[in-house]
Amino acid sequence: METIVDVNHLNKSYKMRRGKEHIQAVNDVSFKVQKGEILGLLGPNGAGKTTTIKMICGLLIPDSGSISIKGMDLSKNKLQGLQHISAVLEGNRNLYWRLTVRENLEYFAGNRGKSRKEVYGRIEELLEQFNLKGKEHELVNRLSRGMQQKLAIAVALLADSEVILLDEPTLGIDIETGYEVRQILRDIVEKSNRTIILSSHDMDVIQDLCDRTVIINHGQIVVDDKVENLMRLFAVRSYTITLGQPLTDQQEILLQQEFSHYQYSADRIEPILEIDLAKSENIYKLFDIFKKENTPVETIDRSTINFEQVFMKIVKGENGHELASSS
Ligand SMILES: Nc1ncnc2c1ncn2[C@@H]1O[C@H](COP(=O)(O)OP(=O)(O)O)[C@@H](O)[C@H]1O
Ligand SMILES: [Mg+2]
Repeated sequence: METIVDVNHLNKSYKMRRGKEHIQAVNDVSFKVQKGEILGLLGPNGAGKTTTIKMICGLLIPDSGSISIKGMDLSKNKLQGLQHISAVLEGNRNLYWRLTVRENLEYFAGNRGKSRKEVYGRIEELLEQFNLKGKEHELVNRLSRGMQQKLAIAVALLADSEVILLDEPTLGIDIETGYEVRQILRDIVEKSNRTIILSSHDMDVIQDLCDRTVIINHGQIVVDDKVENLMRLFAVRSYTITLGQPLTDQQEILLQQEFSHYQYSADRIEPILEIDLAKSENIYKLFDIFKKENTPVETIDRSTINFEQVFMKIVKGENGHELASSS
């Protein structure tokens, strides 16, 4: 494995407009990204994602800490380091609004020192891949936000840099284009072995696209782990059980004594118990309680839990201890 982006103890604070107060937007953030990886920076609004991305692409200078791209320290070899990076920031700033779709692609390719002839084939390919062929002569300011976003990503790809940074790539675009963008990003990673760092406050996007996620809250990393591990951590021990008859008072008392996280509702035909087990072996304790009255168990399901629930639990600090020991 080759580390391609290495972020070390980054700090950045902004001065408030009034007074001498500072906001610590990024607080001691460190992570590494391997070649070919798709890393998600996840966190609520104001968490520090954009600030982190802007430092990695050289638009903001960190107060302290360092960033290396392919082993080159940005504070010493900024131009060489940034050669390997292209970024799509919020608001599609890397486009010329008064140029057409095709002109934008040609213009930015030219900026990177490529001739029109050299990139002709590649531009055709991108127009096809991004479903923009029919709009190639349209001015950018007349495109929908979703199409502008697709074009911004296409422009970034044309640079052929190894690392692509995407800040909130599906924010503010319609659902359908959002799915299209996700599909395109998945294709890019599968087929071209590029490395992507993307930020999102939308766990669904991260769950769908990323191998690994760094979760940021209030400028600090709360978790750095494989998405799959995080899901497993919380999913394994949540059960939904339907019973053939209500629990007796005696059973309910035992349940209270043994378990802290559960919800029991007996006010329907089949009583339902939703329970989180601290250890999976605890399921036997639970069944002992049922057995005392021969309570029939009709169904037992491991609850499906989505990343949003995982995220909320982490941000609220639940299960912090177990998370720390899992990585
Ligand atoms: N130019 C700025 N001046 C002052 N404060 C800022 C500026 N940019 C961001 N912030 C503050 O820094 C924090 C992190 O912001 P940001 O990196 O944009 O978070 P995110 O992208 O996760 O929403 C927030 O509290 C935000 O209000
Ligand atoms: Mg942001």
